[in-house]
Amino acid sequence: MLPIIDRCSEEPIRRQIYHQLRAQILSSELEQGTPLYSTRQLASDLGVSRSTVVEAYDMLLAEGFLESKQGSQTVVAQGVAMQPAKEQPKVPEREPCKPILADFTTGRPDLSSFPRAKWSRLLQQAAQSLTIEDYGYTSPQGYLPLRAEIASWLSRSRGVSVFAENVFITAGATHALRILADLLCGNVGRVILEDPCHKGLYDTLVASNCEIVPVPADQHGMMTDQLTGDERAQMVYVTPSHQFPLGGILPASRRAELIRYALEQEIYIVEDDYDSEFRYTGSPISPLVSMDASRVIYVGTFSKTLFPALRIGYAVLPKELQSRWRYLRMHNDVQNPIVDQAALAMFLSTRGFDRHIRTMKNHYAKRRQVLVDVLKKQFGESCEIFGDSSGLHLAVRINGASFEDNFQSFCRGRGIVVKTMESHCIQKGSHKDQLVLGYGHLDDSDIHNGVKLLKETIRDYRICIV
Ligand SMILES: Cc1ncc(COP(=O)(O)O)c(C=O)c1O
Repeated sequence: MLPIIDRCSEEPIRRQIYHQLRAQILSSELEQGTPLYSTRQLASDLGVSRSTVVEAYDMLLAEGFLESKQGSQTVVAQGVAMQPAKEQPKVPEREPCKPILADFTTGRPDLSSFPRAKWSRLLQQAAQSLTIEDYGYTSPQGYLPLRAEIASWLSRSRGVSVFAENVFITAGATHALRILADLLCGNVGRVILEDPCHKGLYDTLVASNCEIVPVPADQHGMMTDQLTGDERAQMVYVTPSHQFPLGGILPASRRAELIRYALEQEIYIVEDDYDSEFRYTGSPISPLVSMDASRVIYVGTFSKTLFPALRIGYAVLPKELQSRWRYLRMHNDVQNPIVDQAALAMFLSTRGFDRHIRTMKNHYAKRRQVLVDVLKKQFGESCEIFGDSSGLHLAVRINGASFEDNFQSFCRGRGIVVKTMESHCIQKGSHKDQLVLGYGHLDDSDIHNGVKLLKETIRDYRICIV
């Protein structure tokens, strides 16, 4: 069949001819050995210039779909036909998604308050101030001035003494955990995980083929008295400053017990310090790494303090793990983008970051208070809010409620995005009356309307499941 030319298409005519002839060859419509029209003939039949057809044939010749025979006859090459593609089974059409009326997704910062104009200027300055060498393959460990600024930030904000040489830049905390799973567990090891935990990070570990050993967490974090010897365990993952999702702070006695355990078992503790910059009452919690840096790997992220799409986080690593980390990073994604790293280093060095944290802390503290007040107003005595006053989410118990597996989809059907505590649990059954509500990205009216809608939905859900 002659190719059909679409003169309105943006695809050049030579490519249209090439694609259609190639499709005919692949489907055996043009069988091997079949001579093609002469270029002159095809050009005249299609009403195009001969050179256009010559170009299309040349592409097919170069890629081996055609071969030139003696006497300049062009024929379809041998052995290039494929079976015609199987017809794909029809995917049933998805139900159209209900518009979102209330979104309690956790871990979302308020992106509308991010100083975008300032950030754009920093990016521009960074791009100009970097040297030509900086634009090459620099280091799988990360941009040195940024590592130095992170070390300085950790010292002034958390009282942790860290050297730039021990800071390793990542594409966020999730990425850090993925590398650590490879590094420490090598596809076969076990990871001790607080339960409940962040479902996304649980999936990251499972995707790295780690076997998960859950240890229950209560309102104070991991119940360290339930840690048992496990010679296949290679690491313990915890969120001691603000347990995700329950919100507790790991008390000193449990911290000591956890570190003793790691020392005895010769395993590493991964401390995910994902949102502790935002603590609304009292000083920031001292991280676990300040108690013993030999067995604790500290992981931080800029996803909550700045914006998730920045994809910059870091890990502070003990010496003995550093060269293996560099090797893994080098043979994976090589390094972080340089301009973003340099802009962030400037933001930190000029203390713009510190000012941003102060502003956002006040902002989120107010949002948290609005959410607490509205929950109390709507649910009264029947709701109990727990966890430290920090971060971008809170956990709430609705007395007498039982949120089953279908609750989240029931809510979604009403336009509400909300997670149950059980959805973050590895071992199910002990947190059925609790919800986890993110508020960082919600303004006052979102919170008022969202909680009202949530209350009505819980009432209807209870009626439906009785
Ligand atoms: C406990 C916890 N750790 C880590 C992350 C992910 O951070 P990142 O965006 O840096 O991968 C989140 C995100 O919500 C989180 O809640």
